[in-house]
Amino acid sequence: MYPKYMRSYKIISALSSKLKKVYKVEADSTVYILKEYERVEDAEKEMQIARQVAMTGYAPEVIEHQDNLVLYEYVEGDNFCDEFRKATMTDDVEAMELLATRLSIFLQIIYSFTDKAIKEIDFNNYVVRDGRVVGVDFLKVDEGMPYEDVASAIAFALTNSAGQYYDCYPFVYKLLSCFKLDMMDVINEVKARLKQLASRGSSNDIDIDMLADGLVGFDKKGVDWRKLI
Ligand SMILES: Nc1ncnc2c1ncn2[C@@H]1O[C@H](COP(=O)(O)OP(=O)(O)OP(=O)(O)O)[C@@H](O)[C@H]1O
Ligand SMILES: [Mg+2]
Repeated sequence: MYPKYMRSYKIISALSSKLKKVYKVEADSTVYILKEYERVEDAEKEMQIARQVAMTGYAPEVIEHQDNLVLYEYVEGDNFCDEFRKATMTDDVEAMELLATRLSIFLQIIYSFTDKAIKEIDFNNYVVRDGRVVGVDFLKVDEGMPYEDVASAIAFALTNSAGQYYDCYPFVYKLLSCFKLDMMDVINEVKARLKQLASRGSSNDIDIDMLADGLVGFDKKGVDWRKLI
């Protein structure tokens, strides 16, 4: 795997081999991320978004590319999903609210610099570096509305909370307030996203209708009765 025109690099580890192969590599004593895409169009699409956003510091810089290979800056920091799980596990309301605020800032940057939406939020695709949420996976970015991303983030949060699903409510309600939205505005989209996640087997047997009732009730009364029994 030494493409002719790119610098030579040493593979340190493989980070993913799903839709694309992702490697942590080293060249000239610097660590980079090398992505090998299935199709050249995918490489061009993700590279274009990264370039539009990188000037803000919210996406990695594109170092070089050739065909379906792209070398990116390595974003050193904490994985957003790990930080989220840590905060929910320890019931750290402040940390959850900070993560929600930081995610909303990242999303606003995406909307202003790309005119597109993330479409499917997976917390594993963000690295927290110097207090900023930096996006590292833009393959699914496409035409869409911010409220869809908010709903997608809420569904991901509810199904990835380290404790009970309601342990992440501080994150959920802070995210809504950053977007000046009420739960009622997004509840149908949240339900649709939860069903999508359940069909892929990534949520653990949650009763989606009951959960949605709880979310709306909590929004109105500030309390989820399920937490009281
Ligand atoms: N520039 C980067 N800096 C630091 N870490 C990165 C960078 N790019 C990717 N990673 C890490 O590698 C992981 C996998 O990369 P990526 O999300 O692009 O692939 P993927 O999840 O397999 O792709 P897809 O979500 O399209 O299936 C990320 O979750 C992140 O932890
Ligand atoms: Mg990813």
